[in-house]
Amino acid sequence: MSRANLILRLMAIGAVIIGVAGLFAYAAGWLRPRALTPARIADTFELVSGLHPGVRRNHAKGVCVSGHFDSNGQGVALSKASIFQPGRTPVIGRFSLSGGQPYAADAPDTVRGMGILFKLRDGEEWRTAMINLPVFPVRTPQAFNEQLLATRPDRTTGKPDPAKVTAFVARYPESAPAMQLIRSRPISSGFENSTFNSVNAFRFINAVGARLSVRWSMVPAQPFAPPSTSDSGPAAKNYLFDALIASIHRRPLEWRLVVTIAQPHDPTDDATIPWPADRPHVDVGTLTIDRVESDDTSPARDINFDPLLLPNGIAASADPLLSARSAVYSQSFTRREGEAKEPSAVSPAETAR
Ligand code: HEM
Repeated sequence: MSRANLILRLMAIGAVIIGVAGLFAYAAGWLRPRALTPARIADTFELVSGLHPGVRRNHAKGVCVSGHFDSNGQGVALSKASIFQPGRTPVIGRFSLSGGQPYAADAPDTVRGMGILFKLRDGEEWRTAMINLPVFPVRTPQAFNEQLLATRPDRTTGKPDPAKVTAFVARYPESAPAMQLIRSRPISSGFENSTFNSVNAFRFINAVGARLSVRWSMVPAQPFAPPSTSDSGPAAKNYLFDALIASIHRRPLEWRLVVTIAQPHDPTDDATIPWPADRPHVDVGTLTIDRVESDDTSPARDINFDPLLLPNGIAASADPLLSARSAVYSQSFTRREGEAKEPSAVSPAETAR
């Protein structure tokens, strides 16, 4: 090969390497200093809550659980996912409170989370992370990031700066009705009698290829009770988790998995908008939770409840929150798995019988 040819080849290889490095740099946001990337949203959580090594950047405080799901077969017509065939599927999960502070005191209005990983019989998995809100307060990841900053407690008052909250709602007017709905929701006494909602829409595909837009909810068999208003002094720091642990030790807890089916014009890319109450609901089976364990000892600590880890027969909708959630959960997971762990606020002694 001539010297000129060799130089040309080396230049071509160099150009390919620089091109690939450029694409990585672009994807990471290094070439767009103002772009919102998954890493920057993870940084925002660290900014507003402080850095707590080894724990989730959101829903930091939690306990792990396990049990099973009994399908009643009603879901087979809606989705070909094998979980809907009649029969039992083991699950592992985690109950949590929103926010990045692993030692925050439990409070009735803190958003409650339920993460569930269904272990399907063919080796597939379905992971879902749900909350006890009827809708989400924001429509886009940009709005979510700005909301985190706008509602950050002020250093002197310990409360969000009302001017920042007003400016946020002015920029994202779709959040005002969503926040109103969230404020007026009935709050139950604990995790065990909370309804947990997927909030985001998904697609179900059945065996003949028919597609439906759906949302789902875990509806508790445990009866609703309002939060206790007894005046017996300040509540214990972990009172919501302690009550959940005590009730699982008393008897298995149950939730019905209820699928809501959208009509053609219902929004499937906007989690701030509820669907009309008359949409069909299909009860597809029962989730039973019969074991509880601390984050410190359970394998669920090391699970990322990525909402896009879906089995064949369930697919993402066009909701922009879904891909953002998946990417930010991955950031959080990668960071926390590479760090030494802080002990969980809900210790193994607390979850032991
Ligand atoms: C752009 C919007 C959102 C962002 C950026 C976000 C971010 C996060 C992050 C970083 C984690 C920790 C992940 C880990 O380390 O494993 C997390 C956990 C969680 N998120 Fe989100 N989230 C968003 C929206 C939502 C929505 C809409 C829901 C519910 C419908 C939700 C429910 C949960 C739950 C239940 C957990 C705890 C799961 C567990 O126990 O591991 N999030 N979120």
